[in-house]
Amino acid sequence: MKISFEDKTVVVIGGTSGINLGIAEKFAESGAKLSVASRSDDKVKNAVEVLSKYKNKAIGFAGDVRDYSKVEDILKKTYESLGEIDVLVSGAAGNFPAPANGISSNGFKAVIDIDLVGTFHVMRSAYPYLKKPGASVINISAPQAYVPIELQVHVCAAKSGVDMITKVLAMEWGEDGIRVNSISPGPIADTEGMKRLAPTEEILKATAESVPLKRIGTKSDIAKTAMFLSSEHASYISGTVVPVDGGWALGGASSLSAEMKKLFQL
Ligand code: NAP
Ligand code: COA
Repeated sequence: MKISFEDKTVVVIGGTSGINLGIAEKFAESGAKLSVASRSDDKVKNAVEVLSKYKNKAIGFAGDVRDYSKVEDILKKTYESLGEIDVLVSGAAGNFPAPANGISSNGFKAVIDIDLVGTFHVMRSAYPYLKKPGASVINISAPQAYVPIELQVHVCAAKSGVDMITKVLAMEWGEDGIRVNSISPGPIADTEGMKRLAPTEEILKATAESVPLKRIGTKSDIAKTAMFLSSEHASYISGTVVPVDGGWALGGASSLSAEMKKLFQL
C-alpha cells in the first residue's frame, strides 16, 4: 500500500530519537514537511539533519513538554513556517524501571509531567493550528496503559491517562473532523525504552520469547501504523488504542522475570 504525504505538514513532539524519529523519517520519506521537538539542542540538530536528507523542509525546536509556554511557542512557530498541521504525533516520554518503594515523589511526578501533562500541553496548544477537517492526531502510548507491570507504577499511571486523553479528544474534536488515536508499541528494538527495560541480552531474549510473534518489533512496524492511521485508509478510525506489539499484551499482567528481579535486587 503506497501512501503519499506530499507537501503535508507533520509535527512529531519528542521526535528526535528512537520510535518517534522513526515515525518522522517515514513521513519525510513519503513527501511530508516535518517539524520535530525535544529538550536537547544536539538531538534536535541531528534529527533535522536526518530529515533534511529527504529534500522536504524540516525544522526543529528545543523545548521541554513540561513547559506549556514553550510548547505553545513551538507549535506557533511551526504553523508560521509550515502552515496548518495535517498530522500531529505526540510521543515525548520518560521511563526508568524502579519499584514504587524506590521512587521519590519527584521521580513519580517527573514521568507524569512528561508523559501525561506533556501530552495535554501538546494537544491544547496544537489545536488552533490543526487542519479542520482532516487532521490526524496520534499519541504514543504503551501497553503499561492497560497491562499492570511491576517496576512501572509511574508509567502505567501516566500512559493510561494518555489513552484517556486520546478518547476524550476524539469525542470533543470529532465534529471538527479531527481523528485522534493512540498507538501502543510493544517491545521495539534499538530504542532507549528497551535499553532501560531489557538491559541484558538474557532479558531481551526472554522478552522476544514472550511475544506471540516471537520477535522484538522494529521502528518501522510503528511508523507504518502511524502512516496508515493518518491516511485516507483510516478515515473512519478515531478514539482507538492500536496495539502494535506482535500480540505481546495478550499475555496480560505478568510478574517480573527472575532475571529482572535479580537485577533490581527484589
Ligand atoms: P526515546 O528515544 O528516549 O524517545 C523519547 C523522545 O522524547 C526523545 O526524542 C526525547 O528527546 C524526548 N523527550 C523526553 N523527555 C522530554 C521532555 N520532557 N520534553 C520534550 N521531549 C522529551 O525513547 P523510545 O524508546 O523511542 O520511546 C518513544 C516513545 O515510544 C515513548 O512515548 C515511549 O513511551 C513509547 N514506547 C516505547 C517502547 C519501546 O520499546 N521503546 C515501547 C512502548 C512505548 P530529549 O531527550 O532531547 O528530550
Ligand atoms: N529510579 C528511581 N528514581 C529515579 C530514577 C531511577 N532509575 N531515575 C531518575 N529518578 C528520579 C530522580 O532521583 C529524581 O527524583 P529526586 O529529585 O527525588 O531525586 C526524579 O526521578 C527526576 O530525575 P531527573 O533526572 O531530575 O529528571 P529529568 O527531568 O532530568 O529526567 C527522567 C526525566 C528521569 C524520566 C529521565 O530518565 C529522562 O530524561 N528520560 C527520557 C528518555 C527516556 O526515558 N526514554 C525512554 C522512553 S520509554
